[in-house]
Parts: sequence; C-alpha cells; structure tokens
Amino acid sequence: MLQRQDLLGLIDVSKEEITEILDLAHEFKTRIKAGEKKMGYLTGKTATILFYENSTRTRTSFEQAAKYLGMTTINIEAGTSSVAKGETLVDTGKTLDAQKNDFIIMRHPMGGAPYLLAKTVQASVLNAGDGINEHPTQALLDMLTMRETFGSLQGLKVAILGDIKHSRVAKSNLFGLKTMGAEVRMFAPETLIPKGMDQLGATICSSREEALKDVDVVMGLRIQLERQKAGNFPSLGEYAANYGVNEEHLALAKPNAIVLHPGPVNRGVELTSAVIDHERSRIEDQVLSGVAVRMAALCLLDEARK
Ligand code: CP
Repeated sequence: MLQRQDLLGLIDVSKEEITEILDLAHEFKTRIKAGEKKMGYLTGKTATILFYENSTRTRTSFEQAAKYLGMTTINIEAGTSSVAKGETLVDTGKTLDAQKNDFIIMRHPMGGAPYLLAKTVQASVLNAGDGINEHPTQALLDMLTMRETFGSLQGLKVAILGDIKHSRVAKSNLFGLKTMGAEVRMFAPETLIPKGMDQLGATICSSREEALKDVDVVMGLRIQLERQKAGNFPSLGEYAANYGVNEEHLALAKPNAIVLHPGPVNRGVELTSAVIDHERSRIEDQVLSGVAVRMAALCLLDEARK
C-alpha cells in the first residue's frame, strides 16, 4: 500500500512503493496491449486535469488512463478559466474541492505549486510537472520501460544527456533510479547542470564518451528553449555537435542499450533522427508506459485514501 495520498515527487517515495506502482502498471500495460479498454476499477470517481502549461503526452495519457479506469474527467486550461481573471491557486483548489473531486492532476510552471495545492484540498493531487522541480509519473514510466526491457533496475547504468538544469524529468529519474539501485550519469554543458546533482547521487561526466561508455540506457532530454533566459550555450548547432547523440555515439553504449526521450523531441539537437528512429529506441513504448503508470498511480492513491 502506498504511504501517501498525493503523488508530488519521487524524492521521498520508497523502493517498495515504486515497485508496487511498476508491478501494477506492468499488469495494466499487458492488458492494454491485449486490447482491453474497460477496466472500471475507479468507476464513479472524478478527476480534474488542471494544466497551467502546454502538454501533449502527459495530459492525454492521464485522460486516457482515467477513462480506461471508468472515471469522469474534467479538463481545465488555465488560459480559459478564472485563473486568467486573477484567481489564486488556493482559491481554484477550494473551488474544485467543493465540487467533491477525487483527484486533481496538475501541471504548473512554479516548482512546489502541487505541494501548496495538496495542503489546501481533500482531493488527491498528482504532480504532472512543476516548473523545474519534478515530474514523478514521467520517471515512473521511464523506469517501467527500463524494467520491462532489462528485468530489473538494480545495477542498470543510465546516461542522461541534455538540458538537465531545466529538467524536472532528470530530477525525478535521479531520485527514482537511485532508490531502485541504478547508476545515473549526467552529461551536458556546465551551464546546463545545476550544482549539487552529484550530492544527490549523479555521476557528472566530463565527456560524451565517459557518459555513454557501456551504459544500458541513453536518455536524451529536450533543450528547453522556453526556459532559457540567458544563452547557456552558443547555438543549437554547437550543442548538437558537442553534446548531442548520433549513431556513432550510441555505439559506445552496450550492444543491447535502449534509447529513451520523454518528448517532445528537438530532432537533430539532443538526438539525431537516426537515433530517435533507431531499432533500439523505446520512445513510443514510453508513451504506452505513460498510460499504464498513470492508471496504477490513480488506483494505488485511491486505495491509500480509504
Ligand atoms: N514528457 C512530457 O511531459 O511531455 P508533454 O509536455 O507533452 O506532456
């Protein structure tokens, strides 16, 4: 049983809890692959999907997950809600709570916003990405794809390359993978690696070769141009040449290594098209893992609320 009613980050989620989510997600993924579309474990429950930032994968997969489970969903876009009239997050949360929502799934540009919401509302809050802080369900779906490929996360070597500074995906993966016994290497321009990642357990590499040598997983992260207030590197072309991954670089990894990317991808920047579309790429599998992991998270949080 999960030891929480909200899923806000992986920083404090135990190995047992991650294992429980991945086990159930694997079961759901198998059933979805077999063509099942109605698994009404949460029939009658409601979720509000409250996104203050753009999304394709996370929003649709939460909605798909909720629908497979028989739930009713309401979508709120900040730009067309009373948020645009100046309503605070706390007041928005109180309004949604008064409507007796069971879950609020939130993406917000400010780190910590889901924590504030969770303190305010009775509903379970799922963080669908808060600023540059965490994106727990993304890391869980990444771990599901890794575990299904290799059987276990214990001892896996994972290289994360890209915009680590602005990446909530990198932080959630670091927390989750370290908890599960994996090794996490990071490589990016110095300006794109926040201080203290080594103290959190990452191995900071000084070359692409050092990062990729004999790894099981190569994870590219998007260069987040919308969050780059100052130029952190001279140009996208120079980034791609010095920090991007092409097929030659991929050959440094283990022969059975897989390629992951949370999306959306800047083709030809963090990964070349040949790597994105490579037979070892699991980027599309990650999307299906996303639906399954979100189903598992909703079911297990519901169980923990009882
Ligand atoms: N991986 C991810 O969060 O993608 P979206 O921004 O499309 O939701």
